[in-house]
Amino acid sequence: MHTPVKAAASPGVIADPATWRETLDGYRAEGLTVGLVPTMGALHAGHLSLIRLAAAQRDVVAVTVYVNPLQFAVTDDLAAYPRDLDGDLAAAGEVGARVVFAPTSDRLWPTPAATTVSVPSLGATLEGAARPGHFEGVGTIVCKLLSLAGPCWAYFGEKDFQQLAVVRRLVSDLSLPVEVIGGPTVRATDGLALSSRNAYLTEEQRRVAPTLYYALLAGRRAVEGGQADGDAVRAAMVAVLAAEGRFAVPDYLEVVDPHSLVPLDRVAGEVRLLGAARLGRARLIDNIGATSPFPNPAHETAGGH
Ligand code: PAF
Repeated sequence: MHTPVKAAASPGVIADPATWRETLDGYRAEGLTVGLVPTMGALHAGHLSLIRLAAAQRDVVAVTVYVNPLQFAVTDDLAAYPRDLDGDLAAAGEVGARVVFAPTSDRLWPTPAATTVSVPSLGATLEGAARPGHFEGVGTIVCKLLSLAGPCWAYFGEKDFQQLAVVRRLVSDLSLPVEVIGGPTVRATDGLALSSRNAYLTEEQRRVAPTLYYALLAGRRAVEGGQADGDAVRAAMVAVLAAEGRFAVPDYLEVVDPHSLVPLDRVAGEVRLLGAARLGRARLIDNIGATSPFPNPAHETAGGH
């Protein structure tokens, strides 16, 4: 039976990888379960909901805060990524984090990484096509963080649906002693998915930013209304974003199989709708699920997922 351990008001901070590993080993030696929430900091309500979920399900919540250079393209502004460790510690402690790992790059990688962990079948499309190298960077750091953490339950947001798929697959393929838990996307009241990158939006852009979500909702209405043609579903989403006028041409607005992430010509069964588009300085991404009234014949014969 899960007995929550009272979180310290301000979590302990550890910068040294060996100390981090020993600390989490120590909790497990006491018979406590560890929930790990990997983040790049700038914690918002979406991260805090993952920490709350982990605190409700595990004895100790361990949060990592590390802005991972490997997952930024040279053209991305790594230096401008929002950072606020003190604010993150206070916020994480308030919702149940017990301990935070906040290493510097020098500590984490005393020598530059020569190893890359990638899942090309899931990571080359969508975000991976728009941001070459991104999922190699994510796969490598997540593998490292999970390896340092040891046996645990690791929490990732569904907001980054492709990342969640990549992480689930690498954990399964590499037999890491980790159970991956997906937490639901947290949205503002107007529907905008919370993201650290929303900080880049001007007031005017923030007002129209939920249009990406509305485009996905239009895709869901098409799917659930019986539209079986993938191109027609895509067109329904593109039309909503284009009508708003302030977004750049989207990097993608796709309807895909939720497991393989392969774009669908014929829409059937459970699907995922995903979109990414620039609005000013911010690149917004979002996704939602939808269920077609037509059963997926592949899943019928395979006995479903
Ligand atoms: O989702 C994120 O914040 C990052 O991609 C992650 C998983 C912490 C890896 O750097």
